[in-house]
Amino acid sequence: MGVPESRAIRGFARMCMDGWLQGWHERNGGNLSYRMTPEDVEECRAAFSFERPWVPMGVADRSLGGEYFLVTGSGKYMRNVSEDPEGNLGILETDSEGRAYRIVWGLSEGGKPTSEFDSHYLCHVVRARATAGECRVLYHAHPANIVALTFVLPLTASALTKALWQSETECPMVFPHGVGVVEWMVPGGPEIAEATRKAMAEYDAVVWAHHGLFTSGPDFDSAFGLMHTIEKAAQIRVLALSAGQGLLRQAIPDEGLLAVAEAYGKELNASLL
Ligand code: 13P
Ligand code: ZN
Repeated sequence: MGVPESRAIRGFARMCMDGWLQGWHERNGGNLSYRMTPEDVEECRAAFSFERPWVPMGVADRSLGGEYFLVTGSGKYMRNVSEDPEGNLGILETDSEGRAYRIVWGLSEGGKPTSEFDSHYLCHVVRARATAGECRVLYHAHPANIVALTFVLPLTASALTKALWQSETECPMVFPHGVGVVEWMVPGGPEIAEATRKAMAEYDAVVWAHHGLFTSGPDFDSAFGLMHTIEKAAQIRVLALSAGQGLLRQAIPDEGLLAVAEAYGKELNASLL
């Protein structure tokens, strides 16, 4: 069995196509990374080659040093991933200090990992820590409605989270910790990675103002479902604000948000209310 038929690549490629079909990945917009399990690595190892050079990252953290990451390539289109996994994806081995990576499979023809790999790596570090190692998927997309809200709502976790919680009854159950925000920054590289790391230490989803959204989760379904739920809530908010010309006549009350979370055994981050 080749790497493209492995469990990890099949799940990864399916998610890339799902995001494309939602309209979240214009051109090369968005990127995805998966921290492979030891079993995933074993399934693929026979196809690895260790000849490509180590490349320093813009960030460093040894807590995930030595782990393997499956990532989208920079400038690659999500819609092409399932057609040609080897040309559009790469498996990266990180060095023991967590300062550099080398491509051990894929990204053929001189491809490079996503320009947001610094953000992905630091977010994997903090989400792995926050979830006792469960978090494995980091997903960045450009869904239109959540980006639109960053032009009209205050850029705070509480303003954005409350607007989203109020917009769809299941939101307090799906993301009870809330959604963090990073102010507008130039994408790619260590500065936005550091700001995103800080926000992701607290939240499993973080909005990049005027740009997109980052979500995380233990598997492809959870990270995709979180992106989908947040974007759907944002769409409802945008529709309601547009129809009401900025005026909302009523909304789910704070006690209702708390009650939904409680009914599903979740603890709402009440500091955001
Ligand atoms: P990459 O093609 O380098 O992954 O960049 C896409 C993107 O969305 C940057 O934020
Ligand atoms: Zn982006």
